[in-house]
Amino acid sequence: MTTLPRVVVLATGGTIAGSASSAASSARYQAATVPVTALLDAVPALKDVARIEAEQVAQVDSKDMSFALWHRLAARVHHWSTQPDVTGIVITHGTDTLEETGMLLHLAAAASVPVVLTAAMRPSTSLSADGPMNLLDAVRVAAHPAAAGKGVLVVVNQEIHAARDAVKAHTCAVQAFVSPVSGPLGFVQDALVRFTRAPLRLPAQPWPLPAGSWPVVEIVASYAEPGRALVDALVASGVQGLVVAAAGNGSIHETLVDALAGAARAGVAVVRSSRTGAGNVLAPANPNPQAGVFVTAGDLNPYKARVALLLALAGDPALVADAAGLQRRFADI
Ligand code: SIN
Repeated sequence: MTTLPRVVVLATGGTIAGSASSAASSARYQAATVPVTALLDAVPALKDVARIEAEQVAQVDSKDMSFALWHRLAARVHHWSTQPDVTGIVITHGTDTLEETGMLLHLAAAASVPVVLTAAMRPSTSLSADGPMNLLDAVRVAAHPAAAGKGVLVVVNQEIHAARDAVKAHTCAVQAFVSPVSGPLGFVQDALVRFTRAPLRLPAQPWPLPAGSWPVVEIVASYAEPGRALVDALVASGVQGLVVAAAGNGSIHETLVDALAGAARAGVAVVRSSRTGAGNVLAPANPNPQAGVFVTAGDLNPYKARVALLLALAGDPALVADAAGLQRRFADI
């Protein structure tokens, strides 16, 4: 008799653990109310795929994600990935900030086994809830030999994405996650787990999480006629990093360039990302002399770029005054 793989499910809350008073409701519900044991009980087929062990790491709506919970989650991933006989780890998470936690774990998780984030757009009590199938598919991927060495993954709506790439791109559709630049890594169709390509941008070494307090990194946006008061106030409050959700290929309104150049001169790391939702931000061929010290985030959206900047500055606070060094960090992601 063959032994089934051992998969650990770490539950953090979200809509996948949400409930509503009416099964007809997919939008009015309370996230993070149903315990992981009940989520697992709702999917009897899991027992044919893996030996499951579950841990309720948190029970939160992911809009309220915190650095403390990121620390706890990364620690539980590390713990379980070093236990003998664990084949893979599944994390249930809210969809709203899954792309940020996914980015964090992509950079920081020192896991020797597959780590798969999954979620749902409809609460567990909904007609046609998507959580049970996403959970089953995530366990199938975490237990599959082909998932080894692919980094942290996201499995939602039968697609497998690299956590580095996956972003939430819809407010309510069950097909809410896309990898806008690279596309999915593969798919799950019943018992068939098929990778169609491999992720190439895996970190050579895990990026350490901050040992003490986290750097202060905020996001500002460029749009028509922006004021500079927000940037000036952030600099005055001691911000260490700013990510700009810039227009197009990273273009920033001249008023904001002026304010951000002042921030850079004051020792704030400034990173340009794009608000478009897809594509790479190149360093300009003829940089505005004022903006020459801004780092580009490549194809990371502002939220993912912020996570990378948090960890980069935590690992090396001197990067606030070393744009070239910080640019090299971003080029590695
Ligand atoms: C959440 O992010 O926790 C709530 C929304 C969702 O999971 O879809």
